[in-house]
Amino acid sequence: MTAGSEAQSQDWQPHRYQKNAGFVAVLGSAVFGLLDPQPGERVLDLGCGDGVLTEKLVAAGCDAVGVDAGADMIAAARARGLDAHVVDGHALDFDGAFDAVFSNAALHWMVRPQEVVAGVFRALRPGGRFVAEFGGHGNVAAIRTALLAVLARRGIDGLALSPWYFPTPDEYRALLQAGGFTVHSAELIPRPTPLPTDVGGWLDTFADSFFAALPQAERAEVKGEVIDLLRPVLCDSEGRWTADYVRLRFSASRSA
Ligand code: BEZ
Repeated sequence: MTAGSEAQSQDWQPHRYQKNAGFVAVLGSAVFGLLDPQPGERVLDLGCGDGVLTEKLVAAGCDAVGVDAGADMIAAARARGLDAHVVDGHALDFDGAFDAVFSNAALHWMVRPQEVVAGVFRALRPGGRFVAEFGGHGNVAAIRTALLAVLARRGIDGLALSPWYFPTPDEYRALLQAGGFTVHSAELIPRPTPLPTDVGGWLDTFADSFFAALPQAERAEVKGEVIDLLRPVLCDSEGRWTADYVRLRFSASRSA
């Protein structure tokens, strides 16, 4: 799921996303529960991706709108019959239109969080809720380290290519408070996540920004080196891969 301009360098391919990352929406049930959507509420799903959770909001009786920066993802969401729009999460253009803004696995693609928080504030009515889960501090640390190490071997600064923002709860809490929110909870949740394929599938789905810096002819070799570095720490003796996910889950409401 994506909702930021940086994420536009990522080629989403909804079918590949479903195959390699279908678990993302399944694992969104805890933050969905924290939102506790009520029938008749108007809810914005920020970074809705292909709309799996937006569809759940509709099934819960909400009047739900999905936004995402990925045009192909929005096409997939619309194919489900959802009210979904291509919008950069840094540039939300709603005014007091929603009772709640919900987001799962998308805010880490938005690397200018003050702009996002300001847009969410404007989108909510006073007292409206902002409930979300995304990658927190330490998220995919092994995967990032391997990417940076392999790119460094080629003289490339991988950090400068990173499209991700993984804050601590304290950092994000301060940002929300400065943006006019009352924070009810903000916690870091380590969640090792079994992958449906090897980590190569995860890299294909999410790490385009790093590989785009390389000539096409070198990409397969670099990917192989990243996989080799990760195998001892993310792959078990039976060949099953687990991503080192750490979630930041929070609940806040617009103060006035
Ligand atoms: C995540 O859900 O934590 C995530 C997904 C893709 C890239 C980075 C992080």
